[in-house]
Amino acid sequence: MSTPDSLKRDAAERAAELVRDGMKLGLGTGSTARHFVDFVGERVRRGARLICVPTSEETRRQAESLAIPLTTLDETPELDLTIDGADEIDGALNLVKGGGGAHLREKMVAASSRRLIVIADASKKVAMLGAFPLPIEVVRFGVESTRRRITAAAASVGCRGDLILRRRADGTDFITDEQHLILDAHFGRIPDPGMLALALTQVPGVVEHGLFIGLCAGVIVAGAAGVEVLGSLD
Ligand code: A5P
Repeated sequence: MSTPDSLKRDAAERAAELVRDGMKLGLGTGSTARHFVDFVGERVRRGARLICVPTSEETRRQAESLAIPLTTLDETPELDLTIDGADEIDGALNLVKGGGGAHLREKMVAASSRRLIVIADASKKVAMLGAFPLPIEVVRFGVESTRRRITAAAASVGCRGDLILRRRADGTDFITDEQHLILDAHFGRIPDPGMLALALTQVPGVVEHGLFIGLCAGVIVAGAAGVEVLGSLD
């Protein structure tokens, strides 16, 4: 009997088959990527020579606990392969990421990789992005002013909805690994993700948004009927 977590593990296991000895890897963040990092740890334990860049402090801690050799984008600016999860995946393999607040480093690591392959359970596939609130990382200075300018920029490309400052369970502000805040944009639907991405990039105070446009080469999706590949894994 498959569960959401066992499907995530199935996708991660398939992705682990893409890992070759000597590779420079980007390690994603989240509950799906966590399974992949476990598989990488197992490969390292069995003697594989891998060097990895984690996309978050959370993933760094997990990798260190598994004795996975780590590097940085400064030391290793070009990677062979990054495996990461996603919150939503559309038919063009555009993504919403950042549910865990790591999308800034995730996007930098993905952009530094020859390939970004996403692993997910089937619930992440959508006809249109936007039901999952879009994470937008902003600097702490002037957040109310930034929120208003994001609202206007999004409206200019047909996206409307509340922008909610992300908080932790204890009520304090969620602070990212790079010490910024996150506004979660409840647009509901994003008819033109490319246009929205461009509009958000032009707002002063926005550090990075969770739209990954044209970055993902392939997706490994695990569902009850088995593992499906979208796009290319090569
Ligand atoms: C982390 O900030 C995110 O981009 C994750 O990659 C994304 O939220 C997927 O997470 P799960 O695998 O936990 O669903």
